[in-house]
Amino acid sequence: MGHRGDNANSLYRSNSFSSLGPGRSQLQSFRSVHFNAQQRRFDLLCRTCQYSFRVDEHGWLEHLYWGVRLQPDDDLDFLRHTNISLPFDPIPEKAETFKPHIFVVSDILKRQSRDSNRNTWKAATMMQRHHYNEEASRLENACWRLLAMKQRRLLREREMAEGEGPQMNTTAFIPMTEDERALLFEEAVAKLMNDIADTRLKAASAKKDAWEVREPGAVKQQGEEQTSMSRIPPGLERVGRNTKLLEFSDYGTGDYRIPSFRVMYADGSHISPMLYKTHRVMLGVVPMGCGMPIVGDEFSVQTDAATLIVTLADPFTDLEVDLHYTVYEDFDIIVRRTVIRNKAPRGAGGVTVLKLASATVDFESDAYHFLHLPGEWAAERQVTVQPIVEGYRGVDSRRGTSSHQHNPFAVIARGDTPPEEDRGEVYGFALMYSGNHRIEVEKTETGRVRLNIGINPDHFSWSLASGGSLESPECIMAYSSDGLTYMSQQLHKLIRTHVIPQEFRGNWVCPILLNTWEAFYFQQTHDNIMQIAKEAKEIGVELLVVDDGWFGRRDDEYTSLGDWDVDFRKLPKGLKALVDEVNGLGLKFGIWVEPEMISVQSKLYEAKPEWALGQAGKSRSEGRNQLVLDFTRKDVRDYIYRKLEAILMSANIEYVKWDCNRHLTEVYSRQLSPAKQGEVFHRYVLGVYEVFRMLRARFPHVIIENCAGGGGRFDVAMLKYSPQIWCSDNTDALSRIRIQYGTSLAYPISAIGSHVSTVPNHQTFRHTPLKTRFVVALCGTFGYELDLTKEISAVEKEQLKAMNRLRTRLAPIIFQGDFYRLWNPFDSSSSVAAWMFVTPDRLKALVFAFISFKKSPGRYLPRLRLRGLDPDEKYTVSELVPTTIRRITSVQFAEDPHRPVYQFGKPTIEISGKALLNCGLPIKLEFDGDSCLFEITAHTHIASTQVVLPPGGASSPVLNKRKSRDGPGTTLLALLEEQEIPRSVSSRAVV
Ligand code: DGJ
Repeated sequence: MGHRGDNANSLYRSNSFSSLGPGRSQLQSFRSVHFNAQQRRFDLLCRTCQYSFRVDEHGWLEHLYWGVRLQPDDDLDFLRHTNISLPFDPIPEKAETFKPHIFVVSDILKRQSRDSNRNTWKAATMMQRHHYNEEASRLENACWRLLAMKQRRLLREREMAEGEGPQMNTTAFIPMTEDERALLFEEAVAKLMNDIADTRLKAASAKKDAWEVREPGAVKQQGEEQTSMSRIPPGLERVGRNTKLLEFSDYGTGDYRIPSFRVMYADGSHISPMLYKTHRVMLGVVPMGCGMPIVGDEFSVQTDAATLIVTLADPFTDLEVDLHYTVYEDFDIIVRRTVIRNKAPRGAGGVTVLKLASATVDFESDAYHFLHLPGEWAAERQVTVQPIVEGYRGVDSRRGTSSHQHNPFAVIARGDTPPEEDRGEVYGFALMYSGNHRIEVEKTETGRVRLNIGINPDHFSWSLASGGSLESPECIMAYSSDGLTYMSQQLHKLIRTHVIPQEFRGNWVCPILLNTWEAFYFQQTHDNIMQIAKEAKEIGVELLVVDDGWFGRRDDEYTSLGDWDVDFRKLPKGLKALVDEVNGLGLKFGIWVEPEMISVQSKLYEAKPEWALGQAGKSRSEGRNQLVLDFTRKDVRDYIYRKLEAILMSANIEYVKWDCNRHLTEVYSRQLSPAKQGEVFHRYVLGVYEVFRMLRARFPHVIIENCAGGGGRFDVAMLKYSPQIWCSDNTDALSRIRIQYGTSLAYPISAIGSHVSTVPNHQTFRHTPLKTRFVVALCGTFGYELDLTKEISAVEKEQLKAMNRLRTRLAPIIFQGDFYRLWNPFDSSSSVAAWMFVTPDRLKALVFAFISFKKSPGRYLPRLRLRGLDPDEKYTVSELVPTTIRRITSVQFAEDPHRPVYQFGKPTIEISGKALLNCGLPIKLEFDGDSCLFEITAHTHIASTQVVLPPGGASSPVLNKRKSRDGPGTTLLALLEEQEIPRSVSSRAVV
């Protein structure tokens, strides 16, 4: 793939505006957000792409363009001429009535809104309450000090006004109401945040251009602009809302497409025209008041992002909407969210929000494809692509979690053929939300296409009393002009650097774990655990995870969820003694919990039946024989948090697997009023986030692995708390190839929980060679899920040891490398898959190829063309885990000669990057479930080492005696010893 920024657009890599053309005086620029006052146009500029929209003559936000970066002096006004006035297109009564009431561009660092200050503060205190960090408490103290100073000053002013002269009593405060006090406190917070931000901005602006501050009224002085506000080009006077490309589609005013939001006022009306009111720009990200996870760090000013907030207002009511755009310039990513506010005076009627999309994106008339990731339990995220045709389609979850069935991720790809990996324009959307979501796509009679993404409006309503606001989850929008690979790589990088918890970023690689679920199921006894722990330690496992069954009376799935106390029948010495013993072996310890659930057969249910979701007097449905706790309730959340805290405090536990094994039904909270029952689904998710957040704050170094019956809650929001997610309950390697491939579209490989399990596989009963089980698990967090005490022979044990050493060596490339998909297992004609990882310096790479079933012995595979390498570099290609199957030419018979059979007749070859990119590797995958793994090292890689896998077969009598339990080619899996050999020797090394 071409390297981004190496094209003509590289001119714009820097934020210098010296090259700007005419109209510069009216161009206000703050980092990656540019505002052209004359054209009322916003350009959000990323490294290679641009997102542009304008305030039109009616005050609507007209979307103009999302694509590769253009020339800065391109006047995108001409794009309006694609609009056509149509007979059935309603237009406002007076097309020219819009006069912006404020139209001020201000530096938010000077005039931050009360709302965002309030949100910042709420978020900060929330974290502080849960012992997040010292900064929060320092901040609070400073605010109280500022408040006290301000009160004193007011008092002095009042005294002066009353002619009393200053008093000496500096501790006196003006008596004030709670509201006044809150207001002052907010101002104090605002001042403090501004001071902090100012200082940081000064530091940052040493490198980057600072915002041109314009005072209110500055734009109005430019008389010409005022005229142009109402000038509509001839022929466009009658273009209504219904056909325009819009940033936010209001309801009931003539846009018949799927709207961005819908409200109901107290008088029963839904009509809500939303017009531009003002906008502001700030450095960094804006925290969510409701505590929802966001991309980026809400507790410091992030200097690599800038946020534009455009406020729309309903001129007839007190409703306002903020559209947030956070621009991650270096990632070609824009993160959007929407906030709706009822600014009605106290006592005035409330508003009910029935729908609030996080983002609406309208696409110009063209051919498009829609890619999404539907699935089911044990077959999550199966890539599905369809052309977008006239009409409406939606994919969503109504299950309370993001779900196995429809992942909150989708791609719109331009073109009349399905998207490709290395070419074509693609637009990726990942919703940062773990509950009910909906992605809706509509192609209308004009050929234009709208996408809305956000919380599912089904079974959703939210009452906004006066002063209230509702925030949508964030939507990450990634653009690529070079196909899917670049889009995925940017999402992976953003998630790795700005979403997963700080502690697990950078060079961090998760420990190799062994999970006891498929080994013991509910029989998690002290003896079982210690036996497997010893074996695990011996083969090089680093973390032992005790799964479901260690608590209450949990002998099966009918009982004990909610009773988070040790089952002394199984762990007679208690949890701490067990953890200490495991630690004593040199292993970390992890534990399984399912905090959101309650079994009817439990002490908790006996005591608190009303804590389960559902309506009194009506029956409830069980899923996996359990009910769901009402996480909208604070008492429930506090109880569960305290139990989790107690478990984690009781012993040296360094990992938690947070499971969730059913979807929600009978969604009703007994604690909420009837009017608020439409809020339960969303409040439930907010409640889950709160407990996750508290855990993270209290135990920042504990690895949390999220799981929901496998990969039923694999979404970006969960990655804010857990750096890894169990990808699927299906541990069968061949099924996993497709699941992991689909998951890679949006999510980094470092987040994909993947284990080597036994054969026959517990979900599919398939026998897959150990080699393939190993290489598939390698492309994820890597671990084991099998009974090492029974299911592994002495020979395999040696192989596992070598595999673990190999994984430790290769993991940095897998965790931090750029990921390229090569062969797509979802191609209908395909039974193969391949992908590769390349380090950012292009000096190291790993290539994986798999075959699920051999269609015909005579059919050749295409050569595997590699990607991401440097064409001018010379590379050594080493085959790491050779097969032992070969074909005897005379009889065309496949046999297992019990010694390594290398793809190229020898363990390594030397070849140029150009050849690898253009000719590809000739690969033979000889039997069902076969695979291969190559390590590629550039010759300029100074400390070059080669790995040769010496044959373990013919020389090993043990191996020769063994029957092929793991399928062909693996009984002789070479003892994967690493050898450092000089480069000159490596090319000559032969079997
Ligand atoms: C479902 C998970 O996905 C499994 O790995 C295991 O933890 C079970 N739940 C335990 O009940």
